[in-house]
Amino acid sequence: MQIESLIERAEAAPPDWKDVVFGADCRLHQLAPYIGKLKPIIARQLLEALTLPGDTVLDCFSGSGTIPLEALLLGRKVLAYDANPYAVTLTRAKLEAPASIEEARERLSMRLAAAARRPVCAPADVPEWVRKFFHPDTLRDALSFADECIESDDQFLLACLLSILHHQRPGFLSYPSSHLIPYLRDRKFPKENFPDLYGARALEPRLLAKINRTYKDIPEIDRSGVLQVGRVSVFDLQVDRPIDAVVTSPPYMNALDYVRDNRLRMWFLDRNTANYSPEPTEKLDQSDAITVAFARNALKRLRTGGRCILIVGETVLRKRVTSHPAERMLDRLTAEYSDLHLERIIRDEIPDVRRSRRTSGATKRELILVLQKR
Ligand SMILES: C[S@@+](CC[C@H](N)C(=O)[O-])C[C@H]1O[C@@H](n2cnc3c(N)ncnc32)[C@H](O)[C@@H]1O
Repeated sequence: MQIESLIERAEAAPPDWKDVVFGADCRLHQLAPYIGKLKPIIARQLLEALTLPGDTVLDCFSGSGTIPLEALLLGRKVLAYDANPYAVTLTRAKLEAPASIEEARERLSMRLAAAARRPVCAPADVPEWVRKFFHPDTLRDALSFADECIESDDQFLLACLLSILHHQRPGFLSYPSSHLIPYLRDRKFPKENFPDLYGARALEPRLLAKINRTYKDIPEIDRSGVLQVGRVSVFDLQVDRPIDAVVTSPPYMNALDYVRDNRLRMWFLDRNTANYSPEPTEKLDQSDAITVAFARNALKRLRTGGRCILIVGETVLRKRVTSHPAERMLDRLTAEYSDLHLERIIRDEIPDVRRSRRTSGATKRELILVLQKR
């Protein structure tokens, strides 16, 4: 279907999707930053309107876990996967968070004590681009704590550490730098003029403050609905049970680079294997292959009557919409499954403040495709 007719057919998104309502979302959503993160209200309203309690919901591009967490809070069963290890850490951290603040604090003291007993990582083993972000004492402590969490498979505390890894505020661990994508801000805050921003930073009070912020007004979560969360590429995905709904936001073609933009956090997670390319990778070639793999692997067990809900970003270059992933995806999905019907389209214009980048490749409009297997 042509993009023009898709847009013509689309309903406008509910006005409250644009509102920023403090306290409306579960605090766990703010556990750590992630580029291309969905607003929880969008996930919540789509799940409420289009799925039922007890349904099994699959998100195979889970990112920071927005859709799986909302699904769990609404009493759905959840399968969540992503190819990016930082995404999997965040999704697991949210779904496996300690049940109470007391448990989280207790676990923190235990891990800090164990981290202090670990052999110290030699500075020579740390690449220079990483060393540039931290005071050597902070770096040593952060690495020991990360290693302790990795070894104990404590994804919640690992995510807490990664969330305070870089920023210019005092509650964070790095020298002054940006929060979402790691860039040093040493020109704006030179060491000569801001010596306080370049001292060693203790982990414990910052991690405790993070935990205290996270556990403010957290609802009780029934975690029995978590069926599986893991690091799985959609190309290798195998679903072994019937699925009531696939709800997901696929990677935004050519707009976001989840490895490059998360490189510092990812280096802490996996110091040997990741490829931290400084340039954005060309994604357009891959996007059709991802759609086909998605159709074959993620939709294979979608039951008759079940829905596939896709939140798809339109990419923009120099203020012009330049590619139409929604149109391309829809064509390929319906070619793969003749029984998949487009039930609704919702059009969400994204105001500038919600975009992670305002220039070059960025997302300006999202189209939500609601497909039903008949
Ligand atoms: C738009 S983001 C999802 C954002 C998520 N809904 C959230 O709220 O944080 C798309 C995700 O697709 C993941 N991804 C990219 N290629 C993938 C692949 N081949 N298999 C699985 N996940 C992939 C990226 O790592 C990214 O987390």
